[in-house]
Amino acid sequence: MAILKLLFALILAVVRPATAFPLNVTSVGKLQSQPSSIQAAASTLAYGLMSWYSNNQSNTPATAIGTFPQPLYWWEAGAIWGGMIDYWAYTGDDSYNPTITQALLAQVGPNNNFMPPAYFSSLGNDDQAFWAIASLNAYEYNFPVPPANASTLWLDLAEAVFNTMVPRWFTHECAGGLQWQIFKSNPGWGYKSSISNGGFFQISARLAHATGNQTYLDWCEKIYDWMAGVGFIDADYNVWDGAEAKANCTPVDRSLWGYNPAVVLYGAAVLFNATGSEVWAERTSGLLEACANSFFSPYPNATDVMYQPSCEPFNNCNNDQLSFKAYLARWMAQSAAVMPAIESTVVALLSASAEAAAESCSGGANGTLCGEKWYVGGYDGHYGVGQQLSALETVQALLLFQ
Ligand SMILES: *[C@@H]1O[C@H](CO)[C@@H](O)[C@H](O)[C@H]1NC(C)=O
Ligand SMILES: *[C@@H]1O[C@H](CO)[C@@H](O)[C@H](O)[C@H]1NC(C)=O
Ligand SMILES: *[C@@H]1O[C@H](CO)[C@@H](O)[C@H](O)[C@H]1NC(C)=O
Ligand SMILES: *[C@@H]1O[C@H](CO)[C@@H](O)[C@H](O)[C@H]1NC(C)=O
Ligand SMILES: *[C@@H]1O[C@H](CO)[C@@H](O)[C@H](O)[C@H]1NC(C)=O
Ligand SMILES: *[C@@H]1O[C@H](CO)[C@@H](O)[C@H](O)[C@H]1NC(C)=O
Ligand SMILES: *[C@@H]1O[C@H](CO)[C@@H](O)[C@H](O)[C@H]1NC(C)=O
Repeated sequence: MAILKLLFALILAVVRPATAFPLNVTSVGKLQSQPSSIQAAASTLAYGLMSWYSNNQSNTPATAIGTFPQPLYWWEAGAIWGGMIDYWAYTGDDSYNPTITQALLAQVGPNNNFMPPAYFSSLGNDDQAFWAIASLNAYEYNFPVPPANASTLWLDLAEAVFNTMVPRWFTHECAGGLQWQIFKSNPGWGYKSSISNGGFFQISARLAHATGNQTYLDWCEKIYDWMAGVGFIDADYNVWDGAEAKANCTPVDRSLWGYNPAVVLYGAAVLFNATGSEVWAERTSGLLEACANSFFSPYPNATDVMYQPSCEPFNNCNNDQLSFKAYLARWMAQSAAVMPAIESTVVALLSASAEAAAESCSGGANGTLCGEKWYVGGYDGHYGVGQQLSALETVQALLLFQ
């Protein structure tokens, strides 16, 4: 972890009663006596998030263990456990570790590659990728492997996912790319999405970094070049959502969702770290700039505050989308951890966003429930799992820089 760059103070509810735990992000190190303020906020947020988790009871059906109830899709649980592994790694709080371990192992499926048949009808490459990414977080941060399992468990699971994706690279339309969905019978199979291909890219990059195996590096080049070639990544490093395959991937759907550039950003940063290549450094910086331009500072009164331009202003974010800020924060921070040249930019954006997120987490009976829009200066009444995860991941991301 980088040396302390900024100091963060937790001002107690007593001081500002409207907000349960505002983060006070200061630019100089005079509040060193409160190094645990962000940690305390993260702990409160993690507790709130886990209070929504109930699929670990003795009467929970085996297929449901580790998932969150509908209307949340299967993938989001994988995303949540990834965030909770980071929570443990950044704070040292291991109280949720048994829950996390049980959840991940419950959803590996019969072939240990995160393809549980109970969820086939909506299983996308992106969904599987989010679980593999949780497993990579576990590998990279040395999350404990259960004694009964191989010590290489977490890496094995991610490699197994990679090996299922390789044969899904179809060149007969758009000259390459994964479909969004895994199964042809699923709605959405005909779409090629940035999140599925970006997930494959990031997994490949992290496997390349972990193993040095050239196969993974080759796939990184191939996936990135394809995404750029087809216009999912444009010349200004915007990462658009995807395109229908049958029309040869034109036109590109230019919706902006923060997880699309972010998933590519972290893959690029990891590749920079693994190779030292200027090409990957330049791509990482370009992708970060595109993120800063599109997903922050919605209004003059909310400088550097993260938001979702494609749904928040219109009040129509769906459950999936409500969680996307979490992954933007997570991957910006993790990118800066492996490419220190972007750290000051990332820390500025995430500090302002974490402060605003913390102010938004002042709802409910306990005054710790998180809202959706961080730019309104408080709790907006739109609570939920995605909102809680987004706030948690944005706040805890700052711990990487303490
Ligand atoms: C944050 O902390 C600084 C330094 O203690 C203080 O000057 C400032 O007023 C605080 N800001 C808020 C919003 O509480
Ligand atoms: C809210 O507070 C109550 C009473 O202290 C506690 O039982 C509950 O777990 C808290 N819920 C959350 C989400 O913090
Ligand atoms: C289920 O998970 C929650 C959150 O980690 C935990 O508090 C609870 O003890 C778990 N229950 C069981 C039966 O494992
Ligand atoms: C982990 O170990 C348990 C107990 O031996 C076993 O049932 C399970 O299949 C293993 N999981 C994986 C993913 O290897
Ligand atoms: C490199 O990774 C690929 C894909 O997982 C695997 O098939 C191959 O055996 C690995 N090569 C080496 C030298 O480990
Ligand atoms: C790669 O990342 C590590 C942290 O994981 C960092 O210490 C190192 O400086 C990075 N290497 C480069 C070339 O930036
Ligand atoms: C900032 O401006 C926007 C747009 O006018 C408004 O919706 C929002 O509530 C304002 N935020 C604050 C903190 O005043």
